[in-house]
Amino acid sequence: MQGKLTIDPSNQIAKVDDRLYSSLIEHLGRAVYDGLYDPDNAKSDENGFRQDVVKAIKDLNIDLVRYPGGNFVSGFNWEDSIGPKDQRPTRLDLAWRSIETNQFGLHEFMKWTQQTGTRPDMAVNLGSRGIDAARNLIEYCNFPGGTYWSDLRKKNGAEQPFNIKTWCLGNEMDGDWQIGHKTAEEYGRLAHETAKVMRLVDPDIDLVVSGSSTREMATFGSWEETVLDHTYDDVDYLSLHRYYDNEENDLHNFLAKSIDFDEFISGIVAVCDAVKARKHSDKTLNLALDEWNVWYHSHKQDDETAPWQNAPHLLEDHYNFEDALMVGTMLITLLKHSDRVKIACLAQLVNVIAPIMTDDQGIWLQSIFFPFMQVSKYGRGIALQPKQESATYDSKDFKDVPYLDSMAVYNPDTHEVVIFAENKGEEAMDFTTTLTSLTTTDLIEATQFYGYDIKQTNEDQRMQIQPNDHVSLDQGTLTTTLEPLSWNMFRIKVAD
Ligand code: AHR
Repeated sequence: MQGKLTIDPSNQIAKVDDRLYSSLIEHLGRAVYDGLYDPDNAKSDENGFRQDVVKAIKDLNIDLVRYPGGNFVSGFNWEDSIGPKDQRPTRLDLAWRSIETNQFGLHEFMKWTQQTGTRPDMAVNLGSRGIDAARNLIEYCNFPGGTYWSDLRKKNGAEQPFNIKTWCLGNEMDGDWQIGHKTAEEYGRLAHETAKVMRLVDPDIDLVVSGSSTREMATFGSWEETVLDHTYDDVDYLSLHRYYDNEENDLHNFLAKSIDFDEFISGIVAVCDAVKARKHSDKTLNLALDEWNVWYHSHKQDDETAPWQNAPHLLEDHYNFEDALMVGTMLITLLKHSDRVKIACLAQLVNVIAPIMTDDQGIWLQSIFFPFMQVSKYGRGIALQPKQESATYDSKDFKDVPYLDSMAVYNPDTHEVVIFAENKGEEAMDFTTTLTSLTTTDLIEATQFYGYDIKQTNEDQRMQIQPNDHVSLDQGTLTTTLEPLSWNMFRIKVAD
């Protein structure tokens, strides 16, 4: 089997936004408690922050962390999470039918972002609450001082404002599972009014309005149109969420779902641009894919978990090798859409549908950790339009699926072109990449991630990225073999 990628540095998609490598921490299951915050654990510091988790997050080069949810935010009183810990109320978390002690709250989260080198992406509750709670929260976080809420922040130990830049206007408000679910009309009006008031407190914030929670919603498309009719001029990003599964146990159909992902993003871009045209607007709205991942292994566990526990085991998917290939092809798809997708949050980060898992003894890294880490580390710079040739296959739901999925990013700061390539086939692929009008000098690194059973998970920590020693680079053409079912990366030095 043959695969070919041609790259021309003058054919650029966009500069990749650092926020493409973001994530989500929700008060859900063991994400916060037992995950990033575990005061009784020997691996935690004096704040109760697990230091092994902090290190793994740094290795992932995460930029924004969306917080505190997810569905959780739609029933959350942010005021419960500030002030002396022994005075914070324990509440029912109705989204996940758990107990929330509020021992990790707003100030702890802000301190934790500093330690992890991440930035906050704060969601406001537009489910059970609304404009008043949102304006008070932003005054508490971003107003310098001299008012009730900003002085309370100082009293609680933060003299300087948090200056949180990015704010989400609720979460998945189109879903009837959401606390305070609304029609598009109701949500659009509320989002508009909330945005207006939040900007009166701090005009410099970026706002994300909630789009459809899945492509399968009956209101998909019309939800976005109605919501944007109300909010197009108020917001900076439209959110979208996408999770994939392999419930049907069909590897090739599963990996072909990157085509659905691609069409999903293009469709939402088209809706945004249609609203732009109708409004005769000069503004182009970008996307925040603020939840994406594979999610399905834990559905049975979730159904069987007893309600009203502290930090229950929920959504603890153990990812296998085929999931890592799916995450790899989703990352390539994101890079192809980096002209419009500016924020993307791998959902989630610790223990809950996450690349990092904890137990009392330490952490273990899931299969999906590896492709994410590589793209997050090296997929920085300018995404180049890929011109690809590959044999194709048909699967249950998709036609003409290329076996090869590939993408290149040119980093002018480090003078390197980085190629990500996935072979979705069960045969080895002869792979060539030609870099036109760039003088290549050296192959810096070539790696491959392959050879595991597709159902193998990584609790025993045996999975690792391996070097690929069979690569030749000659006058701008890289030649190698992509192993069957493999994720690959090549870093090539180019002359100035
Ligand atoms: O990430 C898990 C859940 O998925 C989030 O709480 C919700 O927004 C989505 O449905």
